[in-house]
Parts: sequence; C-alpha cells; structure tokens
Amino acid sequence: MSQWPSPNTRAQELYRRAEKVMPGGVTRIVPWQPPYPPYAERGEGGYIIDVDGTRRLDLVNNFSSMIHGHAHPEIVRAVQDQVALGTAFSMPTASEVDLAEAISQRTPNIEWLRFSNSGSEAVMCAIKAARALTGRPKIVKIEGAYHGSYDFAEVSLDSTPANWGQEPQSIGYSAGVPDGVRENVIVVPFNDPDAARRIIRGERDHIAGILIDVTPSYLGYVSMTEEFARTMQDLAREIGAALILDEVISYRMDHGGAQRLYGLEPDFTVLGKIIGGGFPIGAVGGPRSAMTVFDHRDGKPLLPWSGTFTANPISMVAGKVSLDLLTQHSIERINGLGETFRIGLSRIFEETGYDAQVTGIASSFKISGHRRPISDYRSSYSTPGEHGRVARLQEELLQLGYYVAYRGHGFFTTVNTPDEVDGLLAACRTAISRI
Ligand SMILES: Cc1ncc(COP(=O)(O)O)c(C=O)c1O
Repeated sequence: MSQWPSPNTRAQELYRRAEKVMPGGVTRIVPWQPPYPPYAERGEGGYIIDVDGTRRLDLVNNFSSMIHGHAHPEIVRAVQDQVALGTAFSMPTASEVDLAEAISQRTPNIEWLRFSNSGSEAVMCAIKAARALTGRPKIVKIEGAYHGSYDFAEVSLDSTPANWGQEPQSIGYSAGVPDGVRENVIVVPFNDPDAARRIIRGERDHIAGILIDVTPSYLGYVSMTEEFARTMQDLAREIGAALILDEVISYRMDHGGAQRLYGLEPDFTVLGKIIGGGFPIGAVGGPRSAMTVFDHRDGKPLLPWSGTFTANPISMVAGKVSLDLLTQHSIERINGLGETFRIGLSRIFEETGYDAQVTGIASSFKISGHRRPISDYRSSYSTPGEHGRVARLQEELLQLGYYVAYRGHGFFTTVNTPDEVDGLLAACRTAISRI
C-alpha cells in the first residue's frame, strides 16, 4: 500500500526541506502535484520505487524519454564504460559520429544534424536556423502546441476561452514576454487547412518557419491529419519558409519517426528525449540544403551553434544503445499496448459512466476529464473541474501502484507487458469505483 501522501514519510520530510531552497519546493513544475510529489529513489525496468519504499508501475517514464524503462542493463553498461573514460571533452568524440549516423540511417531526410542538451534548446536552434536561412523574422505555430521553453515557441500555449478570441491570438505565456515575441509568432488552429492557408498567405513575406508537431501533447496526442500536415509542408514551400517538424515525442511512433509515416520532408527536424537513452539531449537535423546555415567552413556561419555539454559522450553512447534497441518490431509492440489500453479504458469510462475520455496515438495516452470530441486545442481545453476529475483518478492510481502524470499523460515502453496493461486497466476500474 502506498505511503504517499501520509504524514511522517520521507517524501514529506524531503518536501519540507525542498520548500526552503526551491520556489514552491520543486525545480521542475510538471511533476508537481499537491500536497507534494512522491520522491523517486530508484527505477527498475518499468517500475519506480519511491523514497518510502512504494513500488509503482511507471507510466510517465520521465515524460516519454525512458523508452526502455529505467536502468536498462545495456544502457547502464555503455554509460558505466564511458564514465570511466571521461564524461565531457571539448574535442569531438567518436560517440557523436556514431549517434548522428544512427539517426541519419533511420531518417534519411536528416543528412546533417547538430546536437543540443534538450528539446527546448533544439527547438530554439531550429527556429533560429529558419530565420538564418530565410532572413525573415516570424514563426507559425499551432494553438496550444507545446514545444519546450523558448519564449517564441511558448506563444499561445495556454490560451483560455477568456482570451483566445475568434481566431487564435498571439498570447505570451509567462509574465513579461516582450511585444516583439508575440508580434513575431503567428498562431493557427490545428487540423484546419483553410484557416492555415488564409492566415499564412496573409503574412507570406515575413514567415521564416512553420513549426508543427503531428501529435501535440497539450491536445491529447490526437493526430494531425495527413491533409493538414501536407498543407503545412506545401505552404512552407510555396512561401519560401522552412518546415520545422518537432519530433521530440513523435519520433517514438515509427523507426523513421512520424515523418516516415506522414511522408514529410521537413527542412529542420527537432529531436530529443528518446535519442538520449535517458540522458539530456536534443538535436536539429535536416537536408544539407537547409542545415548548411550551421556550416562554418567558409567563415562565420549564418548560425553559429555551440554549448559546453553538447554531444557529451554519456548522452551519445546512451542514445546510440537506446536507438539500437528500438527496432521497428519493438515500436509496433508498444504501439499495440497503447492501443489495447486506450480501447480498454474507453470501455471502462463507458461502462462506469465516469465523465472522462482517453486519447492518444502509438504508445502514448492522455486522459481528459470530459467527453467532448477532441479535434484541436479548443476542444481539448479542460476546465479546472475537469482537470480535477483526472487528478482524482491519478491519485487513486498512485495508491494502487500505478504512476500516471497528474494531468493524465502516459507512455508505454519496451519493458512493459500485456499483463501490466491488464493490471493498469483493472486498477483504473478499481480507482473509479473508489471515487
Ligand atoms: C514536442 C516537444 N517539444 C519540445 C520539448 C522540450 O524538450 P525538453 O523538455 O527536453 O526541453 C518537449 C518536452 O516535453 C516536447 O514534448
């Protein structure tokens, strides 16, 4: 039985100390949940054991980055070997060539790539690359789509009915966002080709890049239609802008990433999470015609790019082993687990009348506390009461030994089994009966 959030636990004691040294007691907002989060002590394959000894099936997997679960023996071995040889050098290493080759072989459109330390940094790098390539200032993004913490990428991330207006507005995410940021981001609705054509053509001479994710997390991982994806690519070509495909999450969908499934050929692909095997990473890649903005060999490049820990050999070797283990067969297997779970949970919501739904694609899922069909950001939007319904379910699941994200996100990994999916479904049924 779970100790969390009982009094006099180690988690509570850690949180008391944390409150004194970190704003709100955490250093990362996403895993926060009241009254304080459970604290992890160690991971074993599909499971997290918290500091009070409770073992739970981990469905969050560090927000999708641990695609082989925790402490996978082959990744541990590769990293241990590398730690003994040195962890960061200013010289390049063979490990970065190995990982770049592995990515390029999986995704032939990525002829050249540059590494970074996070997906956010890679998104920033891709946006700057689009500006450098075109000499134009503006970026197009989809309303509500999350692309990390670069302020241009955060525009209109959490619009509400009170401010979203008739057509998507360019709304700053955090306090103090300069007007220049909002003025240089154009927001379009998801899966609406006509609106995209009208809005994008209206700004055609100012747009550097069109930033898309085919399965945005804040929209419940619903899929972009092929028509919309193709329209965005065609529009980018038509107006001479770069297509930036954010595959930080969607790369897990297929051996070649979502771009293979959709037949897209982005100018810049942004990667992160799974390509680092559980260590910090990001990357921007694409055809040489676009990636040439980084090439310094004829003098100062259009976009100089560096970073102290960029391509550190720990992330590189872990990423290489992680990708080698991630075969098309294993991807299809975990996509099947995702499908089984989504079908099973939908049936449970139906049978119990619990006012919620589960959406998602491939090995991802997102539980929302309402039944409105989700087709874009506005239809995915949940009221605080609807969020509360997901939080109640999540808290009960924590008690039952399952860790789903507080906002209802989850991912299956290559170490999960069909029996674990059955167990999770049974726990969801029990959790609802307790609520
Ligand atoms: C689609 C997408 N892009 C970018 C990012 C940012 O990546 P990171 O958290 O590594 O900065 C995320 C993170 O969740 C993401 O989901």
